[in-house]
Amino acid sequence: MSIRIPDSIQRLVPYVPGKPIEETKREFGLKKVIKLASNENALGPSPRAVKALKGAVKELYRYPDASAFRFKAKLAKFLNVQAGEILLGNGSDDVIDLLIRTFSVPGEAILTTKAAFVAYKVCAQMNGVETIEADLDADLKPKLDQMLELAKKDDRIKLIFLANPNNPTGTYVKNSELLSFLKQVRQIRGGSVLVVLDYAYWEFVDAPDLTPPEKLYPEFENVMILRTFSKVYGLAGIRMGYAVGSKDLLSFVERVRQPFTNNSLALVAAEAALGDRAFVRKSFKTNLKERAKWEKFFQKNGIPFWKSQGNFLLIDAMKGFGKTGVEVFNEALKKGVIFRPVANYGLHHALRISVGTAEENAFAMKALKAMKV
Ligand SMILES: Cc1ncc(COP(=O)(O)O)c(C=O)c1O
Repeated sequence: MSIRIPDSIQRLVPYVPGKPIEETKREFGLKKVIKLASNENALGPSPRAVKALKGAVKELYRYPDASAFRFKAKLAKFLNVQAGEILLGNGSDDVIDLLIRTFSVPGEAILTTKAAFVAYKVCAQMNGVETIEADLDADLKPKLDQMLELAKKDDRIKLIFLANPNNPTGTYVKNSELLSFLKQVRQIRGGSVLVVLDYAYWEFVDAPDLTPPEKLYPEFENVMILRTFSKVYGLAGIRMGYAVGSKDLLSFVERVRQPFTNNSLALVAAEAALGDRAFVRKSFKTNLKERAKWEKFFQKNGIPFWKSQGNFLLIDAMKGFGKTGVEVFNEALKKGVIFRPVANYGLHHALRISVGTAEENAFAMKALKAMKV
């Protein structure tokens, strides 16, 4: 080929999404397939969002409101911040990309951990930015001391990404440790390292020692919070995520952002979903109940797992089944259940299971049980 493909692009490893249901049905000739692979809301989308979308369709010939005035005003009120302290993106993946593009240049670096949410590394790589990864401890929690050492030592590091709780591990950093970490990062190179705390799963959290995201802001100028409508609000398909942070810093991100990133349906759906507090509560409660059922199932069947604060659980497939995560994933496919292998996170021995509805979970448990010999 005579068209030059830059090295940085050739090295990109494409993102592997969860396997689609229809594809699995076709491949294995199955009538019933359930998907517990993408940490989506088991209860579906917010009903209020669905209703609002129906009314919004007739306005599709118009461009969306580039300033997202109405939605941002509501979101700002909900979060108790100013509209200028919010930056909207086409899903939080988009926000991650925008932050890296705004606050680092090719040749610089982001710092995260091993087995961190994969988009950090993918977006960095897309922008010619290096990813430096700190280790996890035996409980799959980030080694914060090592992160601090790395951040101090390497002045290429301009951003730190930490998901709390993290996907795919489900583990979290508790209040006291997080606050001490943030205080120490603030001391590095005059507070010039930006910390992005990804709270995608915050609404599912029930741990009392995990700080609500709004408590961290604006105490730290160099901290931004990432949130999404893809999880508890059930709107993964419409794409709406956002960052909350310093107005001054976000004004630069706004310059990088395309004006019509958020389509008009996404704005309408997210606004309606935000007001659907009953749905959020129901989703939280269902997840808690169903996650506990999974834990019991794992304990009963000798399948080790990591305690999770999200709507998913990571199991040790090697210890539980004597097989790699990919092997258990492939066997489960034949039984009509799609899980998520996490070998791309360096966790060859593990498998991630999203928490589904009571019926889906029972079906998936039956499939797993049949695989235990
Ligand atoms: C930790 C974490 N952050 C961000 C995202 C991306 O969410 P969005 O759908 O808003 O792009 C995910 C999606 O799975 C995630 O697990």
